[in-house]
Amino acid sequence: MADIRPRRSVLYMPGSHARALEKAKSLPADALILDLEDAVAPEAKEEARARVCAAVAEGSYGGREVVIRINGIDTPWGKADLAEAADAMPDAILVPKVSRAEDMRRIARILDDRGTPARVRLWAMMETPLAMLEAGAIAATAAEPGGRLACLVMGTNDLARETRVAFGGERTGLLAWLSTCVAAARAFGLDIVDGVYNDFRDETGFLREAEQGRALGMDGKTLIHPAQIAPCNAVFSPTEQDIAWAEKVIAAFTRPENADKGAISLDGRMVERLHAEMAERTLAIRDAIAARDGDAQ
Ligand code: COA
Ligand code: MG
Repeated sequence: MADIRPRRSVLYMPGSHARALEKAKSLPADALILDLEDAVAPEAKEEARARVCAAVAEGSYGGREVVIRINGIDTPWGKADLAEAADAMPDAILVPKVSRAEDMRRIARILDDRGTPARVRLWAMMETPLAMLEAGAIAATAAEPGGRLACLVMGTNDLARETRVAFGGERTGLLAWLSTCVAAARAFGLDIVDGVYNDFRDETGFLREAEQGRALGMDGKTLIHPAQIAPCNAVFSPTEQDIAWAEKVIAAFTRPENADKGAISLDGRMVERLHAEMAERTLAIRDAIAARDGDAQ
């Protein structure tokens, strides 16, 4: 489980917003998405690119994972965004409006040709109707030679707009696609983070939606405002109870009398070996969070 990183809270900020880029250095988000795409007006694109790439190359973001969202590769800014973002060496480049596996391969080839080290990963925005139908194939690019895909990001605003499903409330119209993408991510060992909650002053509504995302299997949620970070970290962190149970499950399977058993009884519940694997992941996430908190300051 060497690659486990906490991705509970993933904060977007417009690349044109100098104050936000600076402020992010002291915010307790697990990951930051410095955006060159939809949060930046066309006339500010080039300045935003220069600002973001300089900030990333300088690297003062501590243990936070740093991701640059580029414009679509076929837009007037996409190719320069990709080249300059790659040279700034963020943890990942987030590709917008991915619709097919080939979209990811094309970006990966450009990075390979440029000699960008493999540690610069790709994240994929899942936000078009076609991406919902192609989710498995897109996620499968992670397992191809040279595959760099590490995380799927739900783009629920674009998805709702393009499919015309009603947005808000319990997200009924989006649920099938959120679950499809969770299955696609898990099938190929990827992380997945949920879409944003637009009404950033409504903490109750935010918490409800974050809990829903967690129940659907999301690793975390994308955010638009610093006020959303603390509640989000709380929702997506293992609780004291989760940790105590995980330790108990692992201890139970380590006892010699259980060495050859697949299922045992613990506190009146059936526990299988698969629960021990889940428990190990819970503890690994707890340790990764502690390590992140240690280096983020
Ligand atoms: N990242 C980092 N810092 C942020 C931030 C963000 N996403 N959003 C706000 N801040 C900072 C502000 O700069 C301000 O800092 P300061 O008080 O130290 O100067 C502080 O947090 C409070 O901001 P506030 O006044 O409450 O919000 P706002 O009215 O300035 O901005 C938004 C509201 C929605 C425009 C802004 O939060 C934003 O741009 N969010 C991200 C949008 C985005 O990237 N969308 C693309 C993906 S959906
Ligand atoms: Mg979008």
